[in-house]
Amino acid sequence: MSALAHRDLESVPRAVSSFDELETARLRLRMFAPTDAFEFSAITCDPEVMRYIGEGRPISVHETVANIDTIINAFRRRGFGRWAVVHQDSGRLIGYCGLSAGTPSAGVELAYMLARPFWGQGLATEAARACLRYGFEALRLSSISAITRPSNRRSRRVMEHLGMKFLCEEIYLRYDCVHYSIDRNDFPLDDSTYILHASRAHDAAA
Ligand SMILES: CC(C)(COP(=O)(O)OP(=O)(O)OC[C@H]1O[C@@H](n2cnc3c(N)ncnc32)[C@H](O)[C@@H]1OP(=O)(O)O)[C@@H](O)C(=O)NCCC(=O)NCCS
Repeated sequence: MSALAHRDLESVPRAVSSFDELETARLRLRMFAPTDAFEFSAITCDPEVMRYIGEGRPISVHETVANIDTIINAFRRRGFGRWAVVHQDSGRLIGYCGLSAGTPSAGVELAYMLARPFWGQGLATEAARACLRYGFEALRLSSISAITRPSNRRSRRVMEHLGMKFLCEEIYLRYDCVHYSIDRNDFPLDDSTYILHASRAHDAAA
């Protein structure tokens, strides 16, 4: 099923999905910009946030600048990716959430990371639910995976809140991981706020 999801990428309608942005009840998911580097760096320098990301260590401002560049380029290349998550009430950039290309075995993957002061409020689940809906409705993916380290309890809880099912433990990018997945037909549409916006970047590119 996951391999099938990865093949789905061939049919992703890039012309309509490129640079789309999302809005939920409390959040805006928009494209990253290079100017986000300092604000984003305040998140990526937190050891607790970075504990299960990459090599499990905080990263420098320079590395954060490079990461943002990678995220923007990946988004442009494939038409989807990780959005910057903005907290509507405060206007603050509080992390990222989105879909990454994953691997041929895992398929398209859900990814999320929030600044610590914003944990425990359901914001990751809210953002991730909108991303799953986007993946199934706009990108027409047949399934979406999520992968984390076994001890990343908070991340696993988000997957469970979303209705994702545990598939297996596996080695992923050299690390022991747990692999969850959800099929389009099992994704429950609820009445939570979901607004799809074509971004200014998209308008400018058109
Ligand atoms: C993974 C991560 C995003 C999860 O954050 P989180 O705050 O635990 O997740 P949510 O925002 O969805 O909040 C869920 C919790 O808020 C609670 N909550 C409080 N108010 C809520 C509300 N209004 N609506 C929904 N849930 C609410 C829920 O009960 C839930 O707690 P529970 O899981 O014990 O039931 C966060 O820990 C993080 O950024 N970690 C570092 C990066 C990382 O590891 N990313 C994953 C890599 S694979």
